[in-house]
Amino acid sequence: MTHSLHDFIRRLPKAELHLHIEGSLEPEMMFALAQRNGVSLPYASVGEVRAAYNFTDLQSFLDLYYAGAAVLQTEQDFHDLTMAYVRRALADNVRHAELFFDPQTHTVRGVPMATVFAGIAGALRQARAEQGFSSRMILCFLRHLSEDDAFATLEAALPLRAEYADLWIGVGLDSGEVGNPPEKFARVFARARELGFRVVAHAGEEGPPAYVHGALDVLQVERIDHGVRSEEDPALMQRLAQSGMPLTVCPLSNLKLCVVKDLREHNLARLLRAGLCVTINSDDPAYFGGYMNANFLATADALELSREELVELARNGFTAAFLTEEERRPWLDELQAVAAE
Ligand code: ADE
Ligand code: ZN
Repeated sequence: MTHSLHDFIRRLPKAELHLHIEGSLEPEMMFALAQRNGVSLPYASVGEVRAAYNFTDLQSFLDLYYAGAAVLQTEQDFHDLTMAYVRRALADNVRHAELFFDPQTHTVRGVPMATVFAGIAGALRQARAEQGFSSRMILCFLRHLSEDDAFATLEAALPLRAEYADLWIGVGLDSGEVGNPPEKFARVFARARELGFRVVAHAGEEGPPAYVHGALDVLQVERIDHGVRSEEDPALMQRLAQSGMPLTVCPLSNLKLCVVKDLREHNLARLLRAGLCVTINSDDPAYFGGYMNANFLATADALELSREELVELARNGFTAAFLTEEERRPWLDELQAVAAE
């Protein structure tokens, strides 16, 4: 890859639509928060933590990810975590981010729902005021837990809705996919839609194309998170292309979780060239070896993406974002200007 293409990627304004804020917990912060909160970690050093990040599949990652999240306890912890992500995002020229957060990971340990919201939202508002960083929050239900648990989580969060109306705009579905199909959450998603929330779901990461159909038909999602296994179903590919349904693809995540053996085998370019609205995202950057630009750079290198394709990927991020046309317009104009340089 030429230096100029690297530089071009860095200059593209970007939107990140698939980022778990708990997945941006770097080992250094994990250690600092463990010390601050008197939590003991099963690792002796930051190096040992990093060495443990050798995943064989989604579940092997989730086990460490949920264990690591135990250091997050106070509003300040969530604030610091979020601020650290915003700094990294800004360094990669990310202008807008829609952050996933997993309240059940925290409420089960006795952390109040209000603490999680206040910490994340406080940082996002500060970032907006001080740096013009645009963001939204998407509350994710953990699909390995019951639908009743998801309902209880939604009910616990609803009293906070008015206070965080500028940020909390949607719900999503994450955690272990196989064995936990979208249909399991049909009622709670219907309720969320009725309440006016935007809806997304992880589907077709490790799960079959039937889960993508389920997310579309039953949950009536507006974006598919991952969705890379859709390629196994030609009718589904047609449906995604024709409807312009965005896929929030996370290449380095797919590599680290062994969804693909080699980035050169990743189907992102094929999905894009088949006319799907593909976006690039970092998922859990502290665990998967890179933030937004690292994902763009590694993918561009491995799949020999053209400048036009890189612009299209960046543009798709803004068009697929839950923004008004007036909000996205300046970034799309700026993107066009960079593309024309
Ligand atoms: N939670 C955090 N990252 C995830 C992923 N890639 N898939 C499902 N659940 C997740
Ligand atoms: Zn994810």
